[in-house]
Formats: sequence, structure tokens, C-alpha cells
Amino acid sequence: MQETRIEKFLRGLPKAELHLHIEGTLEPELAFELALKHGVRLPYASVDELRHAYQFANLQDFLDIYYTGADVLRDEEDFHALTEAYLRKCREQGVVHVEIFFDPQSHTARGVALATALGGIRRALLEAERRDGITFRIIVCFLRHLSADDAMRTLEEVLAFRDWVTAVGLDSSEAGHPPSKFAAVFDRARREGLLAVAHAGEEGPPAYIWEALDLLHVQRIDHGVRCEEDPPLVLRLARERMPLTVCPLSNVKLNVIDRIEAHNLKRLLDQGLCVTVNSDDPSYFGGYLLENYLAIQAALDLTDADLVGLARNSFEASFLTPADKARWLAAIDTYALSANA
Ligand code: HPA
Ligand code: ZN
Repeated sequence: MQETRIEKFLRGLPKAELHLHIEGTLEPELAFELALKHGVRLPYASVDELRHAYQFANLQDFLDIYYTGADVLRDEEDFHALTEAYLRKCREQGVVHVEIFFDPQSHTARGVALATALGGIRRALLEAERRDGITFRIIVCFLRHLSADDAMRTLEEVLAFRDWVTAVGLDSSEAGHPPSKFAAVFDRARREGLLAVAHAGEEGPPAYIWEALDLLHVQRIDHGVRCEEDPPLVLRLARERMPLTVCPLSNVKLNVIDRIEAHNLKRLLDQGLCVTVNSDDPSYFGGYLLENYLAIQAALDLTDADLVGLARNSFEASFLTPADKARWLAAIDTYALSANA
């Protein structure tokens, strides 16, 4: 099919992806291939049946399937194959920098060593950097439905790989598991020089965003779309240029919003927030980064200038060095000028 003007424009626009769970890039085909390789029985008869199971009432519904899928990831080669497939998409879609989430506890609890998982992921990232110039950071996330003690033990294990990791994050079931539960863990990570992000205000209330800012001292809020219910919070996020890593297709799939046309991304942008677009768990939510940009553009009738602003925000909000940020911002401006010439 002929590529539309907007698709071509978006594909060529340099973009960073800042909210991506590597386990959420597991496509059903690879899941079945790895299940066969390891003799793991998936509770689905076929690739099609698994894909059809991707209908979720809410976050927990999704997480149940997501953790089942992750069980096929067993050896270093599996994590390498998973990451390599995602990076192939990045190359096709003009994603030039990625900051990926990884959930150690999903794997160590199954007896997969941290070195196995992290080693395979990092090897694929290093190869893509060398081959395609795609730069990366790794963010290790704690599963918030587990205890703070478990997270602290996981952090201690991760510190053996301190140089491979840029930041810590917080994901999994949000409701009932406020950021405050992990304040001591994030304090310890900060003392090691790690940066911090946290999922907050996806299903949880605006109070969780305040806690992530004031108790976890995060550099970004993941999702954060429920901030709109709290005008003083929106003012603060705008004043501090605190980035939100918004995931439009995820929000629709998990019923965080009713339909994409009702998404508040444009209203948040118009209030001066540093909003970015991301894919979250692209295999499960029906699209990678380009599809998220395309969907939100069409639904909210975003202009080229809006899209350039979103791409600029993705670098501004990244953990790249100031020099690399400046280089990409200049490249975006050059691209926008030439594309509209
Ligand atoms: N929210 C919380 N936990 C997650 C998500 C999400 O969107 N994706 C993977 N783990
Ligand atoms: Zn997420």
C-alpha cells in the first residue's frame, strides 16, 4: 500500500522511545517458537488464538497474560532475539534512541539469572548501536505488587551490573501500591547515582503522581494522564517541565480512556507539559511507536508542528547527554524545514 504523506513524514522524523517494556515486545510468533524450543506449554492452541486473547478489561487483565508470555524467555539467546526484533522495528520506524524497561523480578522469580536476561538484552542493544547507530539506556523496573523488601533485594542484585543501568522504575499493578511503598528503595538507588522514573496516574490517582515526585524524586512520570484531575498538579508538571511518557494505544487497550478521540494528550500539550508518545507493550497493544504517533495524529488532528514538538520532547525528556540532545533537536529542526520545503 502507498505510504501516506503523514506516515512518510513521521517515519523520517527522528524519535526517541522512553516507555517500552522489553517483555511487552514479545510477538505471539516468537512466543510459540520459544515455547517449542523449551518444551513450555502455552495455554493457547495457536498464534492466532493467543493474539485473539489480547482483549483486556483493565491493567491487571493485561498483566496476567503478559507474565504468562514472559515465561517462555529462558536463556540468553531468547532475550537477545526478543530485543533484536524490537530494534529491527526501531530501525524501520525512525526510532534513533531507546530507553527500555526491564523487569528483573519476572525472570529471577522463575530461576532465570539476572546476568542471563540483562546480558542478552544488552548484547542486542550494543549490536544495534554499532550497526544502526541506535543509542540506548536500560531502566530496571520493580514490580510494585511485590514487597519493598523484594525490590530492595533486586536492587542489590542489579548493583552488580551498575554500569549497565541508567535508572530505576516502578511498574505492574498500580492501584493499592503507591510510590511511597518504595521510597527507601529509590533512596538507595539515588545514592548509587541511578536516575528514577515511575508509572503513576495510569490507573492510580493523582496523589500517586505527587508521591512519585516528592518521595521517589523521579525525572519522568510514566503515563501520568490522570494528572488532569488535579489542576494544581498540572501547573506543577508544566512549571517543572516534568516529562510524561504517554502511551496512546495502551491507554485505549487498557480502558484508561474510552476511545482514542477522547485522549487528553493535546490538552496536556496545550497546557505546556512535556508530553512524549510511546508504545508501552507494542505486541499486546496493537502498534509500535510509529503506529502510536499515527493513531494519535489522526484522532486529535495533530499538526506537523505538534508532531515535531512531540519528537523534540522525546529527546528533551531522555537521559541522553546535553550534547546528544542538542544534536538531535537540531536534526529534527533541519528535517522539519526540509520536509515542509
Ligand atoms: N503499567 C504497569 N505495568 C506495566 C505496564 C503498564 O502499562 N506495562 C508493563 N507493565
Ligand atoms: Zn508501562
